[in-house]
Amino acid sequence: MDATGPARLEIEDLLVAFGGLRAVDGISLGAEPGTIVGLIGPNGSGKTTTLDAVSGNVGATAGSIRVDGEELTDYLPEERMAIGMVRSFQDCRLFPELSVEDVLMICEDARRAVGVVSSTIQMPWARRAERNKRQAVDAVISSFGLTRFRHHRTAELSTGTRRVVDLASIVLARPRLLLLDEPTAGIAQREAEAFIPLLRRLHQVADCTILLVEHDVPLVFELCSKVVVMETGTVVSSGTPDQVSRDPRALAAYLGASAEALAVSGPVVEPDRGGEPTDGG
Ligand SMILES: Nc1ncnc2c1ncn2[C@@H]1O[C@H](COP(=O)(O)OP(=O)(O)O)[C@@H](O)[C@H]1O
Ligand SMILES: [Mg+2]
Repeated sequence: MDATGPARLEIEDLLVAFGGLRAVDGISLGAEPGTIVGLIGPNGSGKTTTLDAVSGNVGATAGSIRVDGEELTDYLPEERMAIGMVRSFQDCRLFPELSVEDVLMICEDARRAVGVVSSTIQMPWARRAERNKRQAVDAVISSFGLTRFRHHRTAELSTGTRRVVDLASIVLARPRLLLLDEPTAGIAQREAEAFIPLLRRLHQVADCTILLVEHDVPLVFELCSKVVVMETGTVVSSGTPDQVSRDPRALAAYLGASAEALAVSGPVVEPDRGGEPTDGG
C-alpha cells in the first residue's frame, strides 16, 4: 500500500446494525485522493456511525471499506491509524494548564515517541529529533495564525481559538485520510465562518483526503467537491454541491430547512491577514 500522500476511500454496500436498528443501511460512497467529501443529513441519519465504521470504532455488519484498494475489514483501529487515518480531533481542553505550544509539542511527541531518557542524555539523534519536532510545531503555529497565542494557556482561549489549536494538532498527526465529525459544533456562527479558510488550510497543509460530517450546510457546500446526503441510514443524494442543491430528494431529506440559510449566507469573505483567529471570549 502507498504509505504517503492523500488516500483513496471506497465504501461499498456498508451495513452497520445495532441489534435490529440499521444505523447505516447499505451505503456506497467514495472519496478520490486529495478531495474533501461532505456527509450531511438529519440527526440520527447514520453519519457518525459511517465515520465510526471507517475508523474501526464500530464493526461493519456487512459491506466493504477500502483505503487505496486495501480491504479494511480485519484492521484494528490502531492499524487504521498506522496507515494514516485520523479520526476527528484532539480536544486541547484536556490540558487546560498547558500553553498552545506545549499542547502541540505533546501531539508531535505522541507521533514520534522520542524516548524521554534519550532526550535527557542528549544523544545527537535525540537532539536532531528535538529540533525537527520544534520546526514542525513552529510551522503549524505560523500556518494557523496562532503566533500570538503561543504562550497562552489553552484554558484562556476562546472556544473558536481552541478549535484552531485542535485543527493545528491534526496536521501534526500527518493524516492521509481525515475523518472530521462536526468540527464547528458548539461554536458561534461568526467563528464557524472563519472555519472555512482554516479547514481549507488544514486540507492544503496536511495534504490529505477528508470525509467531513458537518451540519453547517453553507460551509460544506463551500469546501467540498462532492456532497453526500444521508437519511435514515441510506444515501438519498450525492454529487457536486451544485447538483445536490438542486436535487429534490436532497431538498426533501434535509436541505429544505437549510435552503433559506444558504440563500442568506452570501459570499464568503476570507480574512485578509492570514486568517489569524480572534479571541473574542
Ligand atoms: N452504539 C449505538 N448503539 C445503538 N444505537 C446507536 C449507536 N450509535 C448510534 N446509534 C443509533 O444509530 C442511528 C444513527 O446514529 P448516528 O450515526 O449517530 O447519526 P448522525 O451522526 O447522523 O446524527 C441513530 O438512530 C442512533 O440512535
Ligand atoms: Mg453524528
